[in-house]
Amino acid sequence: LPWDPSNYLWHNVLCLVFFALFIVTVCSLHFNNIFSCSFSAAGVLLQVKMNVRRHLKNKNTVPKIFAETVARYGDKTALIFEGTGEKWTFRQLDEYSNRVANLLLERGFKDGDVVALFMENRSQYVGLWLGMAKIGVEAALINFNLRLEALVHCVTISNAKAVVFGSELNEAVSEVHSLMGREVQMFCSGDWDPKRVPRGTECLEPLLDNAPSHLPSRPQRCFTDRLFYIYTSGTTGMPKAAIVVHSRYYRMAALVYYGFRMTPDDVLYDCLPLYHSAGNIVGVGQCILHGMTVVIRKKFSASRFWDDCAKYNCTIVQYIGEICRYLLNQPVRDIEQQHRVRMALGNGLRQSIWVEFMERFNIPQIAEFYGATECNCSLGNFDNKVGMSCGFNSQILPFIYPIRLVRVDEETMELIRGPDGVCIPCKPGEPGQLVGRIIQNDPLRRFDGYVNQSATSKKIANSVFKKGDSAYLSGDVLIMDECGHMYFKDRTGDTFRWKGENVSTTEVEGTLSRLLDMKDVVVYGVEVPGAEGKAGMAAIADPTQSTDLAKFVKDMEKALPPYARPVFLRFLPEVNKTGTFKFQKMDLRRDSFDPSAVSDRLYFLDSRRGSYVQLDEELYRSILSGKHKL
Ligand SMILES: *[C@@H]1O[C@H](CO)[C@@H](O)[C@H](O)[C@H]1NC(C)=O
Ligand SMILES: *[C@@H]1O[C@H](CO)[C@@H](O)[C@H](O)[C@H]1NC(C)=O
Ligand SMILES: *[C@@H]1O[C@H](CO)[C@@H](O)[C@H](O)[C@H]1NC(C)=O
Ligand SMILES: *[C@@H]1O[C@H](CO)[C@@H](O)[C@H](O)[C@H]1NC(C)=O
Ligand SMILES: *[C@@H]1O[C@H](CO)[C@@H](O)[C@H](O)[C@H]1NC(C)=O
Ligand SMILES: *[C@@H]1O[C@H](CO)[C@@H](O)[C@H](O)[C@H]1NC(C)=O
Repeated sequence: LPWDPSNYLWHNVLCLVFFALFIVTVCSLHFNNIFSCSFSAAGVLLQVKMNVRRHLKNKNTVPKIFAETVARYGDKTALIFEGTGEKWTFRQLDEYSNRVANLLLERGFKDGDVVALFMENRSQYVGLWLGMAKIGVEAALINFNLRLEALVHCVTISNAKAVVFGSELNEAVSEVHSLMGREVQMFCSGDWDPKRVPRGTECLEPLLDNAPSHLPSRPQRCFTDRLFYIYTSGTTGMPKAAIVVHSRYYRMAALVYYGFRMTPDDVLYDCLPLYHSAGNIVGVGQCILHGMTVVIRKKFSASRFWDDCAKYNCTIVQYIGEICRYLLNQPVRDIEQQHRVRMALGNGLRQSIWVEFMERFNIPQIAEFYGATECNCSLGNFDNKVGMSCGFNSQILPFIYPIRLVRVDEETMELIRGPDGVCIPCKPGEPGQLVGRIIQNDPLRRFDGYVNQSATSKKIANSVFKKGDSAYLSGDVLIMDECGHMYFKDRTGDTFRWKGENVSTTEVEGTLSRLLDMKDVVVYGVEVPGAEGKAGMAAIADPTQSTDLAKFVKDMEKALPPYARPVFLRFLPEVNKTGTFKFQKMDLRRDSFDPSAVSDRLYFLDSRRGSYVQLDEELYRSILSGKHKL
């Protein structure tokens, strides 16, 4: 076409070009942030999505991807076990897991069988579940803190045909062996003592030494088949077994890998329990899938943390929940700055200590992400925004990732629906429950749920995005800003109402803990007869009884609005936590503020005097009868 501005076609083309330029300029001036966030987040999601498609098409599985990693990195160190100092190369890990697979094949285990894994500190942990996965046997990863009924429950609901346990747990297994059924085979790994294990138990190591180390023939498993089971922490009731399929394992690990621009040269420090997704998927997954060296420590130690990082040249550390607070609670040492850690990866870093944590420990980037094991609605703070941003969801490209915040009653977590019966999306700044659309034939959008069907159905709601669809309920309340950054607000049912205001226990816990030199503080609401809503109560772990209450009240008045100040205090030597440092509030809530039920010191905030007074039987009765107004 010859150049001629009066030509009709040329005129249209020019108009279009100018219009497009205009739009781009305006947008980049006003929404620079939105654009850059959208494109980087969308890019990561697209990349992971394309990889998932490829693995799906090639019928890949986690063991098959691991085989590629071994071919590439063979003699590189895969895992280092702090404690014994043992190092395994990728080839060693591969051979070990082949032996596990061959042994189980010999013993008649087949595709779809389940084997429970119950160990504390064995370097073989990863090799064991990986070996099982190689022949389609699914591992049930059982929390090694469980005992008695809870332990039996977890083994039973998984339908495990065998239990592999570490010798450090001999007693825990012996206690419950008779309840597990005789057909369950038992294997013990570690220091063998035939007198201390249940009858019929076999010692694992000699069996593995005799098993061939070649790769056994693989069953036809695909990317959407089950890999293993991870149990929910069970802060309310018995643990539930969440199903982890190969694609979920891949996606959880790959999202943080690409999202936070990790490389195979990074060294990751993983001190989280391996029976949870943070430790075993987000952490160990980087080794299995991406060839990264991962340092495993069986138990988090605040005093050894930075020494370990320096010793192993770690560049990424994992944290969860309260770990950062425990680190800040340590005396200042030189080593805490003399390391090569460039990024902290995890979730639950509180707003109140975010900046302090970065500055004191000299960590340039906080990679905060959000995502439950069973949930497909993961988010990540990919752009290192300071503050408790745990993720970013593009508002411009919502079709890429169909998650959203919808209005809920924050106390009961019931969804609030519009006149058409569909959930109401939240406006920026409005707290809402995070939900993810379920599209069962899309591996990124699937929901695999729990082993227990009725528990699965509780996590699914219908008509959320539009009439007739179904969506996964995360149970967590988040807030999104104008730009699409999401901020974690509270966990299910953790908000209570007092004096007509919604009190976020997570926020209050963070603030109080900061005022109390990073002590453990658990906040919950308790019912007081005659009072509307729930009164705040704080359980404070104070083994040395060193709290200065007068100073505490003064600081608290500056930091918290009146409705958020705890009405009752309970001082106790320590608070109960799960293996991932989540507080167990059930017992505390049940004990409430009754001085005859609780032997710990209790205090009551006398609002007229503006100070805490000891709560005795007389005051307790006078509060119950309504004589003493709150
Ligand atoms: C495992 O842990 C137990 C107790 O925590 C300890 O006694 C034992 O030596 C540990 N074994 C190994 C191999 O680390
Ligand atoms: C850490 O890095 C230093 C210097 O590059 C090196 O000498 C040392 O061997 C490394 N340590 C480990 C455990 O890789
Ligand atoms: C508290 O939450 C409820 C429902 O979640 C909401 O209707 C109410 O407006 C909130 N109150 C305040 C003060 O934010
Ligand atoms: C989450 O997972 C469920 C089940 O695997 C799936 O149905 C749903 O579409 C997923 N949601 C998102 C946002 O990926
Ligand atoms: C399954 O879940 C429901 C509801 O959460 C619970 O009542 C039931 O006891 C569970 N069943 C098993 C076998 O755990
Ligand atoms: C902590 O857990 C133990 C064992 O389950 C229980 O006996 C104790 O009452 C709990 N403590 C508190 C303060 O809830």
